[in-house]
Amino acid sequence: MKLICNIPSSPHSYEIEIGSRMGHTQYLRSLASKFAIITDDIVAPLYGESLTRELGGHLFSFPHGEQYKTRTTKELLENQLFEKGFGRDSCVIALGGGVVTDLAGYVAATYCRGIPLVMMPTSLLAMVDASIGGKTGVNGPYGKNMIGCIYQPKKVLLDLSTLKSLPKKEVANGMVEIIKHGLIASCKLFEAVEQGSDIQGMIFESCRIKKEIVEQDERENGKRRLLNFGHTIGHALERLTHYSLSHGEAVAIGLLVESYLSVKLGLLDQNSLERIHNVLLKNGLPLQLPSRFSLQNLLDTMAWDKKAQKREPRFVMIDAIGSSLAYGSTYCTHVEKSLIKDGLEWVNDALCCH
Ligand SMILES: NC(=O)c1ccc[n+]([C@@H]2O[C@H](COP(=O)([O-])OP(=O)(O)OC[C@H]3O[C@@H](n4cnc5c(N)ncnc54)[C@H](O)[C@@H]3O)[C@@H](O)[C@H]2O)c1
Repeated sequence: MKLICNIPSSPHSYEIEIGSRMGHTQYLRSLASKFAIITDDIVAPLYGESLTRELGGHLFSFPHGEQYKTRTTKELLENQLFEKGFGRDSCVIALGGGVVTDLAGYVAATYCRGIPLVMMPTSLLAMVDASIGGKTGVNGPYGKNMIGCIYQPKKVLLDLSTLKSLPKKEVANGMVEIIKHGLIASCKLFEAVEQGSDIQGMIFESCRIKKEIVEQDERENGKRRLLNFGHTIGHALERLTHYSLSHGEAVAIGLLVESYLSVKLGLLDQNSLERIHNVLLKNGLPLQLPSRFSLQNLLDTMAWDKKAQKREPRFVMIDAIGSSLAYGSTYCTHVEKSLIKDGLEWVNDALCCH
């Protein structure tokens, strides 16, 4: 299965291929004469070594985990590339989860002022989200993904057979983004998740939604903000728990609370909120807060959200499952502080285990 991604500012369109075999050796060899396969230490022995043998490239691996998505890791990788004689005729293959695709993508974007990049996502989240749309970058002491750039790949290759080794918790993290895509743009996709339909179809539909949004707004000045549904609260929870809640767990709670806000604004019906709650639980998301949060801390943290204006958070809203609101062309809106507090109190009461 194939999708074509047409980004207006990009000189070329590129393919997102969804299949079940690594390889594509012939195509890859047409891109460059030298390959830097960048991955983490979990994916390296699973898929990196065989791909490197097949392609005849060099394998570069760094320790897994969000804490290694840093400028330091980027610099180490760049130095290793120079030491191994990689020049402008090289290609970076980003093989792994979203940490790898973000970091290796950023390496490709700046190495020798930019060399070809091929995304080979191996986590569900990277397949349906991180590898599509061109956002690359690293974290810094001032926040997540604060340093980076938009750099489109030459191709995105999804080998679904790699999902067999993905831990259950990581599958759940990826399902959250599929559910989010359903909520903002496709009731059909949401229903497929509810019914536990086949994963290949859901991945295809999810990639289609993400790429169509990015095609319309590569630089997140409008419609791309929809992809942030659930993330205003989700990111704040991630930060306040010092990342003890995973991204997926935090965004799942964010989806629920932001849907609750839509209900309180009279946009969404109560039955839809219950369906959202149930589908998240059914897909292994615990929907539990480790402790009660101070409302002020949550509000202060949300003031740093990228959609915030004058340090007031703005939220994406849905008025039905599969239908989001445009608000002119801002795709997000301010919500009265008392209502945000109501939503946060609700989450404290409903989801806190202490
Ligand atoms: N660029 C974007 O548009 C975008 C969008 C969403 C998320 N992201 C970024 O993606 C990152 C999260 O991605 P993630 O959830 O994939 O995390 P991750 O890259 O840390 O992967 C999760 C874990 O799964 C392991 N793994 C990956 N594939 C595997 C496989 N096939 N078998 C066994 N283990 C495997 C990894 O080694 C890691 O331990 C975050 O840094 C986030 O900021 C970027």
